[in-house]
Amino acid sequence: MYESFWGLREQPFGTTPDPAFLYPSQQHEEAEARIRYAIHSRKGLAMLIGAVGMGKTTLTRVVIGKLRNARAAVLLNPKVTPVQMLREICYEFGFEQVPHYKRDIIAVLRKHALEQLEAGVSLVVILDEAQLLSRDCLEEIRLLTNWETNKDKLYTVLLVGQPELEGRLRKIPQLNQRVVIRARLASLGEKETTEYIAHRLRTAGAPLFPFTPEAIAEIYHYSTGVPRLINMICDMCLLEGYIRRTKKLDVPIVQDVVKDLGGVLDNAKV
Ligand SMILES: Nc1ncnc2c1ncn2[C@@H]1O[C@H](COP(=O)(O)OP(=O)(O)OP(=O)(O)O)[C@@H](O)[C@H]1O
Ligand SMILES: [Mg+2]
Repeated sequence: MYESFWGLREQPFGTTPDPAFLYPSQQHEEAEARIRYAIHSRKGLAMLIGAVGMGKTTLTRVVIGKLRNARAAVLLNPKVTPVQMLREICYEFGFEQVPHYKRDIIAVLRKHALEQLEAGVSLVVILDEAQLLSRDCLEEIRLLTNWETNKDKLYTVLLVGQPELEGRLRKIPQLNQRVVIRARLASLGEKETTEYIAHRLRTAGAPLFPFTPEAIAEIYHYSTGVPRLINMICDMCLLEGYIRRTKKLDVPIVQDVVKDLGGVLDNAKV
């Protein structure tokens, strides 16, 4: 809607996890390196932790996009039974026919893993929203990460979830002890917030940077450096600028937007 007013090719602050817009903050780069290491070194179990809207799903998409000699099964729905989970993994790895019984599904997955190992291909199962997985599913995951040859794990499992996932795993020591790689995403700092906003604007083709430094400080304050909240505020600021026909996005505009978004922003006591 406001794209032509701002000279943009597309909207810079969408809320979908689009890897094309990834701003490589230091912690995103570190987390990415850890996850790639886990996959390519065939570590059994890895974990990516971060609060809501911090960029976990986006980061997993970035990692998948860069995989070489590796294949990923991504499960986005954690509300499944262990058998449904195993079946989903088969579908994700491209099986069209999946057996009915659990022991047969397991046989299929084992055979597949051994063939892929022979071919030099690493396999990773990514479970998003893992804090919502049932205890039974977590137990099944433990068994999956037990599969190994003398040298290699057959599957790497990456659990992606909110911080309560760590609490849940602490209560299951036999699983928790197997987490060999832990990666974390925390909020961006103020300088990173500025770079993040500039990066997304540039990626969308923006010819100018419309925010005043004071406006950025306000955005940082209200978003607390959480990328999804930064996106929501910035998107509304661009709309507001378009409506008011001004190309300068300053503190009053940010404050008006924040009032409108109040309910979503914990910090929004204007
Ligand atoms: N480093 C980043 N660079 C660019 N955009 C990012 C970055 N981190 C997060 N975002 C953006 O923030 C929004 C939220 O990201 P994402 O959905 O990946 O978060 P999440 O941690 O998976 O959230 P949830 O816990 O709700 O699943 C998306 O629009 C995403 O593109
Ligand atoms: Mg997510």
